[in-house]
Order: sequence, then C-alpha cells, then structure tokens
Amino acid sequence: MNKPLLDVLDHQRRCPPPIWLMRQAGRYLPEYRSVREKAGDFLKLCFSPELAAEVTLQPVRRFGFDAAILFSDILVVPYALGQSVAFATGDGPRLDAIDDAKALRKLRSELDHERLMPVYETIARVKSQLPANATLLGFCGAPWTLATYMIAGAGTPDQIPAREFAYRAPELFQQLLDVLVEASAAYLIRQFEAGVDAVQIFDTWAGVLPDEEFDRCCIEPCARIIALVRARIPRAKFIGFPRGAGLLYERYVRATWVDAISLDTAVPAGFAHDRLQPLAAVQGNLDPVILLVGGAPLKQAVNALRRALGGGGFIFNLGHGVLPQTSPEHIAMLAKMLAEPLNGIS
Ligand code: CP3
Repeated sequence: MNKPLLDVLDHQRRCPPPIWLMRQAGRYLPEYRSVREKAGDFLKLCFSPELAAEVTLQPVRRFGFDAAILFSDILVVPYALGQSVAFATGDGPRLDAIDDAKALRKLRSELDHERLMPVYETIARVKSQLPANATLLGFCGAPWTLATYMIAGAGTPDQIPAREFAYRAPELFQQLLDVLVEASAAYLIRQFEAGVDAVQIFDTWAGVLPDEEFDRCCIEPCARIIALVRARIPRAKFIGFPRGAGLLYERYVRATWVDAISLDTAVPAGFAHDRLQPLAAVQGNLDPVILLVGGAPLKQAVNALRRALGGGGFIFNLGHGVLPQTSPEHIAMLAKMLAEPLNGIS
C-alpha cells in the first residue's frame, strides 16, 4: 500500500493532500495527559518506548492522519552529548549553560547512542503498529535552534545569549555547530535505520537571524546534515522548517535540497506558490489560532489554503504546533475536511 505523504515528498501531487500537524501528540489530548501523568517526568516519557510509542500513535488513531511523528524532543541530542537537560513542570527546559570554552570542552564530541536507544526502540514499536498508508516521521532540532537552548541554558524570548556568543566567539560557536552537525546526522541515520520514512529538521529560531548570519547558522549546518545523511541513506527524505525565515525561505530551499519546506504562519500563500512550490513540496501553514476558534473561520481558512497550494506538491499542516488549549473536536473537523477532494482542485 502506498503512503500519500511519502508520494508528495517524491514529487507527486496527491488529492486530497496528506495531513499531519506539528505537536499533534500533546496536552490538548486527554489520552496524552493520562499517559503523561503515568510517566511523571516529561523526559521519562520520551525515554519509555512503550509509552512514547503509545502517544505517537494516539493522534493517528483518533484522526486518521497521514503521518505519525516520533514522540520525543529536540533536546535529547544535547542530553546524549553529555549536557544536563531537565524539564521543570510549566517552566520549559533547563540545561547547564555552555557559555565559555571550558563548558564547551565538557561536551562529548560524539553522540552517546546508548542514551538514545529508547528512542530507536520507540521507532521500531511505532513502525510495527502503524497503518500501512501512514508515514513515520523522525526529527531533530537544527544546530542553530539547539545552540540557542544549549548556550542560554533555557528558552529565551529573543535568543540573545546565543546570538551574542556567535559574534563574540565565532570560532567556539563554529565548534559547537560542527559537533551538532555530526551528532544530528548520526542521530538521523539511526532513526532511518530504525524505521522512519522521512525526517523534519526543526529550526524554530531561524527567524531571528539577520541575512549574513542566516547562511552560517541555519543554511550551512542544515545542508551539511542533509548531505551526510543522504550519503549513507540515499532514499532519505527531508522536510525543512526554518521558522520565521521570511524572504530567506527561498535561499534555504535552493541551498539545502530539502524535499519539502514547512511554512510558518506568516508566509504568504502567493509567495509559497510562485517561488517555493516549483522547487520543493510545501507544507503548512494554517494559523494554530484559527484551529482554536473552529467553525466557519476554520472552514474558510482551510479551503483558501487548499485552493492556493493544492494544485502542486502540498502537505497540509499548521504554521507551528497545536496549542495546548485546542479542542480535539476542531481537529476532528479539520481531518474530516481533508478526507474529501475540494471542487476538483485538491
Ligand atoms: O507531536 C510532535 O510534534 C512530536 C513531539 C515533539 C515535542 N517537541 C514534544 C513536546 C516535537 C517534534 C518537539 C520539538 C521541539 N521541542 C521543538 C521544535 C518545534 C517547535 O515547537 O518549535 C522545540 C523548540 C522543543 C523544545 C521544547 N520542548 C520546549 C521549549 C518545551 C516546553 C514548552 C512546552 O510546550 O511545554 C518542550 C516540551 C514539550 N515537547 C512538550 C511536548 C509534547 C510539552 C511537555 C509536556 O507534556 O508537559
């Protein structure tokens, strides 16, 4: 049986377009909250293959989505490089900040795959239970976005600690990016070997970088990861998400050779259609806030997006993750709309 989402990554147009949602497993689902409570700690959930596989599959079961995304977090990579990582309830991630040469030296130069074995086991478990027409997506954080957490030791509103570090200590900063490129490529290779069909690279904080910094911090590391993985796994498919990159989205697509490009909420459909869709499939970009509202505004926005982008390679998704306060009924309505062709367009 074929997989519609994988077909789109393979340059085919599918009608209706395949759908999945970023953060489709999460607190908006009662069945997630119940497993999360059982696991206690968030990282414990990420590293318990049975529970992580269960929450990966929940949204596919409930909504019939075309893809399951591995349930894990981007910060397991710094953890497997020896950095301490914790999630304080309601407080986001906390790491021991890497802010000088001494702290950087403490980082391992290679990933400790032992620490990541539970993730690979989760992938194998999901693979064996996933419907044949559903795609299994793996992922990693892009080096720049990981560096923003690793350098600040926490999430920051403006990523200034990492931006300052990059200007003040360009060589140390490059060393960190290089370690993260190698580690991320090794991690994604293992994910493909364990059974994922495609992967997404999340560069959540790409949008704060000025033009000249965008190349060294975002494009080059992502392009290197993709080349390293493809050298080992020629069939490897990539979705890139340089969130907030604006006009630089086009340069990112041309330079990284991603198979699909995930659009944040601000990317105009006309720009995506004219400049990006000729180069790669596009994924996105419904406003997660419209999903909160539901009803007529949701229907109208979904149809407009499908009319604008459904004529080419298109994966339906949000511009960013599902908000925790979203009603599962609104998502059920969205999934139902996407099960039908639209006026002969898509
Ligand atoms: O469903 C999916 O999309 C797969 C699972 C997934 C999670 N995190 C689970 C998660 C994925 C792909 C991520 C990626 C991730 N993690 C990113 C990039 C994507 C994005 O959202 O921009 C980033 C920046 C992180 C780092 C991170 N993880 C933060 C800042 C936080 C705290 C904020 C929050 O939403 O609570 C997390 C925690 C996290 N990761 C949760 C989930 C479901 C919430 C934890 C909980 O259940 O309490």
